[in-house]
Amino acid sequence: MTSTRRFFRPTWAEVHLGALRENLRRFRRRMPRSTRILFVVKGDAYGHGAAACARAAQQARAADWLGVSSVEEGVALREAGIRLPILVLGSLYPFESFLAAVEFGLTPTVASLDSARRLAEVARRQRRRVSCHLKLETGMGRIGMSPAAAVAAAGYLAETRLVEVSGAYTHFSCAETDRAFTLEQLRRFRGALRGLAGAGVSPRLHHAANSAAALRLPAARLDMVRPGLAIYGLYPGFRAVLSLKSKVVFLKTVPRGAAIGYGATFRARRPTIVATVPIGYADGWSRRLSNRGQALLGGRRCPVIGSISMDMLMLDATAVPGVRVGDDVVLIGRQGREEIAAPEVAAAAGTIPYETTTALTSRVPRSFLPS
Ligand SMILES: Cc1ncc(COP(=O)(O)O)c(C=O)c1O
Repeated sequence: MTSTRRFFRPTWAEVHLGALRENLRRFRRRMPRSTRILFVVKGDAYGHGAAACARAAQQARAADWLGVSSVEEGVALREAGIRLPILVLGSLYPFESFLAAVEFGLTPTVASLDSARRLAEVARRQRRRVSCHLKLETGMGRIGMSPAAAVAAAGYLAETRLVEVSGAYTHFSCAETDRAFTLEQLRRFRGALRGLAGAGVSPRLHHAANSAAALRLPAARLDMVRPGLAIYGLYPGFRAVLSLKSKVVFLKTVPRGAAIGYGATFRARRPTIVATVPIGYADGWSRRLSNRGQALLGGRRCPVIGSISMDMLMLDATAVPGVRVGDDVVLIGRQGREEIAAPEVAAAAGTIPYETTTALTSRVPRSFLPS
């Protein structure tokens, strides 16, 4: 996704890289000096465009590490010229992917004894010393090892002398919602680290905190924090990075009683000016926003009327004086004094901001702005 791709359909996302850099700096200022920052750019940087966001962070020297979810995502960043250390946060099964991770200088996660064995095998075959981070299960219930399994895997790797365990980490499941459970996870993590230290394994980097934990729970910051949400401005106190824009492509006035959209789920209660906007669920704009969402037009909030279709939605533009075809529509972002933030859209769709921006498909060109 580049800013140079030509597009005619007037629907696009603007990614404000200046805001992203500012968020990284803002975030860093709130952490102790020695705390490293791993900027999470998985899921195409939560839909913002991973290569551009990673490059902005690298050029500004604003992140120490990057986090991706798969080898494919990491390889794409290396091919885009990203030199920062990259941690692959997800499972590397099938373990053949370790070979690509090693070739492209990515740091894999080891989350089982089996994966430790396979990584050592790759290091042996490649005649290279590689490094990895161990993933510990403390309450997320996704991937990760019990303290005993971590000791076994780390012990095995130490014996082979081929794989350095340079980090150990865990992930919180309720950092935004349940402080007590997060503290319990932290306690379990510390216990597991003591177990590893007792077995002679002391990784340099201990890390656990996402945006919410890093900002709210100083004890969870450890050696490195792993923010995503805050850096994209999807967390209170940070600047929104992504705006989603379109234009009115068709206008009509319908009489009272007129039906709008598939299933005729909306009937006009009065003569209504209807503006058609070329964005739909094939762009990742949730159909759950049918008859619920809003968009900005003429500096006002206009309700979505009728069902959102694959490629289009309709707005009630009756309150917008002099509305014309070609007028700007803002689905996420600011217009005049009004603003619709991604978390508001997410709430209206019954989901979380992560999903709202990540869902935007490749059909929506991203335009990268330096500001
Ligand atoms: C392992 C891991 N670390 C960190 C993050 C970043 O979390 P957030 O975007 O809430 O800061 C994620 C995101 O889901 C994650 O999966």
